[in-house]
Amino acid sequence: MRHLLAIEDLDRAEIERIMERADSFAEVGRRDIKKVPTLRGRTVVSLFYEASTRTSASFELAAKRLSADLVSIKAAGSSVDKGESLKDTIATLSAYEPEAIVIRSPHAGAAKLVAGWTEAGVINAGDGKHEHPSQALLDVYTLRGRLGELDGKRIWIVGDVLHSRVARSCALAFRLMGARVTLCGPPTLIPRNAGSALGCEVTHDISGLGEADVVYTLRMQSERMAESFVPSLREYAMRFQVNGRRLGPRQLLMHPGPVNRGVELSGEVIDGPNSLITEQVKSGLVVRMAVLYELLAGGTRPRGGRQMPETELPAPTPIGEPA
Ligand code: CP
Repeated sequence: MRHLLAIEDLDRAEIERIMERADSFAEVGRRDIKKVPTLRGRTVVSLFYEASTRTSASFELAAKRLSADLVSIKAAGSSVDKGESLKDTIATLSAYEPEAIVIRSPHAGAAKLVAGWTEAGVINAGDGKHEHPSQALLDVYTLRGRLGELDGKRIWIVGDVLHSRVARSCALAFRLMGARVTLCGPPTLIPRNAGSALGCEVTHDISGLGEADVVYTLRMQSERMAESFVPSLREYAMRFQVNGRRLGPRQLLMHPGPVNRGVELSGEVIDGPNSLITEQVKSGLVVRMAVLYELLAGGTRPRGGRQMPETELPAPTPIGEPA
């Protein structure tokens, strides 16, 4: 894998390989010393133009656990504040010869543009409303840990699909892994062509939620709403909030975070036994270690314009001894 830009670029076998790799890193995480030398001497740049807690923290920790040198930049407080363009920022950071750039941007397509401007492998950590592929991978990993294979499982994605890059990446990934996906929300928050574009069923009626094995809820993304898409958050919560009344005892509950408590989810289900939200966060670390490994040590991408000789590649498994 040269870059991770979108789930739509992957096939099932590639996702399976990342899942297996993440399993190996989960084993490393159970050791006393949770660090391996796999990426020693390689540089990873983390560049975030939008707020993040989970994605930035887990990619940074993943790079450190793999012994990479990490450069972490938030746009606020960097030379972006002085007007430096994205292209010039990438040219500047590329002068340090990083082998991976993890980028989050408010603009759809930004990660793909960056991939054309640098020799580094590029990981899309969220580009506007387009995709958030590592989120979908960690969600597949979390579900496989609970359910095994996803073939034939019914997954409902509920909420603000319109503004959600997570919805798009998750719908594509869940379908690739064999699940049947339903998008549920008010008509104003589900794009007209979403069902056909993503291969999902669409409903504006939450009363059928009981058929779902997994209820994947989305954050109401008020920061991306230039106009009003629902009469009020109170009315949205009355019609679409997943709460103790709507969630059955056998159904698994997911949310990418951060959660608007009391809007898309009630406090009782966030903190209840069906919730996988904390497990999703934990999965983020090992899956992002696996993604960095695939890009930097998987043996398929040229490094600095040349193919890595086999002798320079760390053995694929086991992952390595503690650093
Ligand atoms: N799910 C997710 O992307 O969370 P952060 O915005 O905290 O990274």
